[in-house]
Amino acid sequence: MELKIKNLLGLRDVDKQDIQLMLDTAESFKEISRRDIKKVPTLRGKTQVNLFFESSTRTRTSFEIAGKRLSADVVNFSASVSALSKGETLTDTARNIEAMRPDILVIRHSAAGAAHMLSRLLKTPIINAGDGSHEHPTQSLLDMFTVRERKKKIDGLKVVIVGDIYHSRVARSNIYGFTKMGAEVWVAGPPTMIPPGIEDMGARVSYNVPEAVRDADVIMMLRIQMERGSGTMFPGLREYSIRYGLNQERMKKMKPNVLVMHPGPINRGVEISPEVADGRLSVILDQVESGVAVRMALLYLFCGGGTSIDETAD
Ligand code: CP
Repeated sequence: MELKIKNLLGLRDVDKQDIQLMLDTAESFKEISRRDIKKVPTLRGKTQVNLFFESSTRTRTSFEIAGKRLSADVVNFSASVSALSKGETLTDTARNIEAMRPDILVIRHSAAGAAHMLSRLLKTPIINAGDGSHEHPTQSLLDMFTVRERKKKIDGLKVVIVGDIYHSRVARSNIYGFTKMGAEVWVAGPPTMIPPGIEDMGARVSYNVPEAVRDADVIMMLRIQMERGSGTMFPGLREYSIRYGLNQERMKKMKPNVLVMHPGPINRGVEISPEVADGRLSVILDQVESGVAVRMALLYLFCGGGTSIDETAD
């Protein structure tokens, strides 16, 4: 089966069938990362360029690992030491990289719409690795993959996303993704951090976090994004933590098998207490592990692997 889309720019315009295919393909790749020899020749001869114009730990590293496990030639472009510092534009930078004939571009940028803009200029398939406060589709796919693996389904689950929804590209992609897969998605947090009109994307809204999370099957805590101005949206971190944070006391009033998720990076002691982040119900590191399998699947599907994904390395 093939995807109907040529680029992965966001989940807004991706249908359920394509999401299903991406998740199913990731399942086939998960096992490779648990082998002694974590390498298959699937993308041998293909060139993957990671264009990261904004900082990243998880996404950047897992895309690099994913490409290398599939035997692609992986090139990491670093904005800070590039000709951007000499005044070259994003468009010219991307056109020059494309002139070197890569097979796939993975792009993270602080500006919403950066990946969309480049997709209109370039012929090379593009995967959006996060654009400003807009979308982070690969994070949502790995979140759905993790939930499906743990709960054996997505359809019918109550997923509550808590915190700085306003600045969150993860929240936007997850609202699109989880609702398409049949979950009931809620967003909860301070009114200043919930953008007007979010219901039109398919989410329900609550300003009462304890009430919203009480019967949740999945709770996804979000980071306060100080670098994007979140600090002006609430009186102080201590008050935020008490009213909206997830701690052991609050966990006692929730379902005993609720999944606790966080896309990272975590502000320990702010939106989530260390005991909960490292606790029995936390799947935060499972999300990171899923990220490699999901990104291997995406590189395979968008790069046109051609060989069997189970083929063993030479
Ligand atoms: N979740 C996520 O996107 O983390 P990074 O910013 O470290 O890539």
